[in-house]
Amino acid sequence: MYILGIESSCDETGVAVYGRDPGLVSHVLHTQIPMHAEYGGVVPELASRDHIKRLVPLTRLALEQAGIGQQDLAAVCYTAGPGLIGALLTGAMYAGALAYALKIPAVPVHHMEAHLLAPMLEKVKPSLPYVALLISGGHTLLILVENPGEYQVLGQSVDDAVGEAFDKTAKLLGIPYPGGPGLEKLALQGDAAAFNFPRPMLHSKELDFSFAGLKTAVLLAIEAQPEGDSSRYADIARSFTQAVTDTLTHKCRAALKRCHCHNLVVAGGVSANSMIRESLSALMTEVGGRVFFARREFCTDNGAMVAYAGMQRFLSGQCGTYAVKVHPRWSLSDLPGL
Ligand code: KG4
Ligand code: ZN
Repeated sequence: MYILGIESSCDETGVAVYGRDPGLVSHVLHTQIPMHAEYGGVVPELASRDHIKRLVPLTRLALEQAGIGQQDLAAVCYTAGPGLIGALLTGAMYAGALAYALKIPAVPVHHMEAHLLAPMLEKVKPSLPYVALLISGGHTLLILVENPGEYQVLGQSVDDAVGEAFDKTAKLLGIPYPGGPGLEKLALQGDAAAFNFPRPMLHSKELDFSFAGLKTAVLLAIEAQPEGDSSRYADIARSFTQAVTDTLTHKCRAALKRCHCHNLVVAGGVSANSMIRESLSALMTEVGGRVFFARREFCTDNGAMVAYAGMQRFLSGQCGTYAVKVHPRWSLSDLPGL
């Protein structure tokens, strides 16, 4: 039994085929990064128009690579939120129309649940209960997962999301959009101790995060450099990454302790960052637990994670109607269990 997974919540069109027994059988992706790069960020209207162009050819390609026809599909799963409203609508309308024509269910998927379950696409899978750190362009969340599909939010960012902090810092350093991967490359050449940037809310007992002050500290450090001199930018990038990494590691340690948990799942675009991965891996070795990441290509937006999450919702009978309904804002804690 096969299902199709469609991702179109932001600047990536992803389509994947997932089978109940074989698991992931194909996945294809088109990124709009070069198109938005000249504007320094995602232009929502351009994103929607591009998704419309890509959805049909990518679906054909995913089915062809899976070696199946559309008549073999049992459901069409799609990202219904959170995300850009126009971008979400393109995927929802296409998925709904395809499912209606094939007389099969259309299954709405929560984008952050899809990120959170992406490590389940790997051979070694986390077992319940686990604490999940979700770090993406729009979200920074610490979540306790005790039962399948039930997400208890332990903490979240009170201002900027981690990915947003990476992107804004990258912009200040003259790194083109999307800043995260470029900033990582630059940071690898720098010294983590060169600048002592703030580790916000480190001493608070709460599990919330704040990254706006860190961004301001970086801005001041950049402004203090002689005009036209970028010789210390690698040090700034590395010290910034170290401050973020220390904060994330500290909060994960506290969350694991509070929940008496030994499993940590790290997901979302920022979880592709090697310095963050290393620090969280070291933390789990230190506390005698295990850490689970998705492979890098499944950390950022993709169709495979939507197909996996969609399959779980489909198998528990949670199919949507053919009405086109999207949720640009949607809390993970509003989801029913699996
Ligand atoms: O999960 P994602 O692909 O999209 C959202 O749902 O937001 O995350 C995108 C975010 C962007 O802010 C991007 O700069 C960041 O993830 N990112 C990274 C890295 N790769 C992507 N941040 C730091 N290091 C990376 N290697
Ligand atoms: Zn995402």
